[in-house]
Amino acid sequence: MSTLKNKIKKLKKEKNAVILAHNYQLGEVQDIADFCGDSLELSRKAAGTDAGMIVFCGVNFMAETAAILCPDKKVIIPDKNAGCPMAAMAGVEKLKMLKRTYPDAVVVTYVNSTAEVKAQSHICCTSANAVEVVNSRDADEIIFLPDKYLGRYVATKTDKKIIFWEGYCGPHVKILDDDIRELKKDHPRAKVLVHPECTPGVIELADEVLSTSGMRKYAGKSDSKEFIVGTEIGMIYRLKKDNPKKEFYPASGNAVCMSMKLCTQERVMWSLEHEKTVIKVPEDIRVKAKEAIDRMLEVKGK
Ligand code: 13P
Ligand code: SF4
Repeated sequence: MSTLKNKIKKLKKEKNAVILAHNYQLGEVQDIADFCGDSLELSRKAAGTDAGMIVFCGVNFMAETAAILCPDKKVIIPDKNAGCPMAAMAGVEKLKMLKRTYPDAVVVTYVNSTAEVKAQSHICCTSANAVEVVNSRDADEIIFLPDKYLGRYVATKTDKKIIFWEGYCGPHVKILDDDIRELKKDHPRAKVLVHPECTPGVIELADEVLSTSGMRKYAGKSDSKEFIVGTEIGMIYRLKKDNPKKEFYPASGNAVCMSMKLCTQERVMWSLEHEKTVIKVPEDIRVKAKEAIDRMLEVKGK
């Protein structure tokens, strides 16, 4: 084990810290994490941990979600510049306006959003449970934000009217349907797994539409030996590590989330040493945002 890895391990123990990492993190970060997962799993892990400190290796909204769920714990993010551009596409004022326009609609907000927006929402969802969350609500109309593509995917799985928001994920829209078609020609036996943040044309070509951990579970259980993977590139490391005898082909080398790549082992070491950068959410916003997240965690799903 490298010296840096050893140091992180020692410091983590001394500080009673747990390292949570998203499936898109660099391999070197995934390798030192106590747990790697998708947004839903990471929220559940944060809520259930008895560690005093959470080092969140992901993007800001994920660390914020942990801070909302665990006000008594110190939540730190190794690089505070790790924003999710999609989360920045949804603002509170526009949401308030939309709520006035559709007073009977229930607001379902993807966790890829700010704490302020969550606080204005009835319930949150992740890519793993968006369909179940929407269908669990006793309402005919749903305001769904910020991802229009996840919203469109959900709309194909519900009778409810979905009011969309104009948000999207840059790395996922870079995956083109032609990329999938080309790869299918070269690997006709491969299963096509795509994330629901992809565009409808890509989703149409998929065998399975899954969250990042949904992909892990599916690839692990499947008899197939080859997979075309339509999501952010970091996922390939995770899938290969879990399934060394299977082949995973990234749908596009352009699907890179730069924010997810800011965290390195050095940054984790630095953040543990200095206990920085602490993520704190103002209490009035935290309490309201927590209600929306708690409602999501109560929904039975995957
Ligand atoms: P998952 O919850 O599926 O891991 O997705 C998070 C994300 O940011 C996708 O871009
Ligand atoms: Fe945000 Fe897309 Fe990056 Fe996920 S991959 S964190 S949605 S920009």
